[in-house]
Amino acid sequence: MTKRVAVITPGGDAPGINACIRAIVRKGIHSGFDIFGIYRGYQGLIDGEIIRLNRRSVSGIIHHGGTILKTTRSQEIKTPPGLQKAVASLKKHLIDCLVIIGGDGSFAAGLKIARQGIPVIGIPATIDNDVFGNDETIGFDTAVNTAVEAIDKIRDTAASLDRIFIVEVMGREHGFLALAVGVASGAEFIIIPEKKYNLNRICAELISHKAGKKTSEIIVFSEGAGQTAEIAPKIEKAVGVPVRVSVLGYIQRGGAPSARSRILGTMFGAYAVGLIKHGLKNRVVVLKDNSLSHIAMQKVISGQKQMDNKFHDLAKTLAQ
Ligand code: F6P
Repeated sequence: MTKRVAVITPGGDAPGINACIRAIVRKGIHSGFDIFGIYRGYQGLIDGEIIRLNRRSVSGIIHHGGTILKTTRSQEIKTPPGLQKAVASLKKHLIDCLVIIGGDGSFAAGLKIARQGIPVIGIPATIDNDVFGNDETIGFDTAVNTAVEAIDKIRDTAASLDRIFIVEVMGREHGFLALAVGVASGAEFIIIPEKKYNLNRICAELISHKAGKKTSEIIVFSEGAGQTAEIAPKIEKAVGVPVRVSVLGYIQRGGAPSARSRILGTMFGAYAVGLIKHGLKNRVVVLKDNSLSHIAMQKVISGQKQMDNKFHDLAKTLAQ
């Protein structure tokens, strides 16, 4: 019997997801599978929005951000009746395996589906890069590059007007994106939720920079670390230098994927097809020390990815 594999992209979009869908569809068909796409994430699954995909369904998408399958942040999937509807939808279409391209929340729902008898395979995709057991998610590299490009531009204004800029980057609970962006843009300070910061100490350092004739500063601030709008006036008052806040927001999540995000999406997608071919279930494809492997989805959702302390310390040393 031909294996019937469905692909879903729930939660936040990330650049490179389309490259991943393309790889799953084409490698899957090459491997003899029938491939289906589920529209609008888990909500679409609940509502039965499943269609067959062919090689041409994924033509001309590799260079586009977002997800051609669209997505939602479904609340219904978190309820027992919603979960039952989702499972019924998969059973109705005789789906043998569900490939979930997303983050922790998407995998948590996926595991509940798996417990109802439908195997799942996860592929990490989120600009936050916060998936346990995995070094890099689809979309992370593009988001880092987008934010760095924006900060390079902001620096022109910071330098011309002798200002301090607080640049807020995404990362609901984690600072992986902020840390990478801060290092790559040469930020003077990087504030992330994982590390407690002391505003008085930051102000004291800024005052000493000012005394040393340093005239502009970039503070990269992860959105999960606090309220930039509240902090900015406090710094301005304490340091006596104009402070501006620039919230990069959703520009980090969209746009053409970098070559690296496209390649990662492609490799993850093709690897997932290989796992299905070998009958593996409820695993997440991961990149670890530059090689692809897979770990139990249960482990991924119960683990907490740790910040690289050495990298964080290095960022601090270099900023002085
Ligand atoms: O994709 C992850 C993320 O970008 C977080 O960094 C951010 O807090 C969140 O999504 C916001 O997304 P939404 O508005 O779709 O809930």
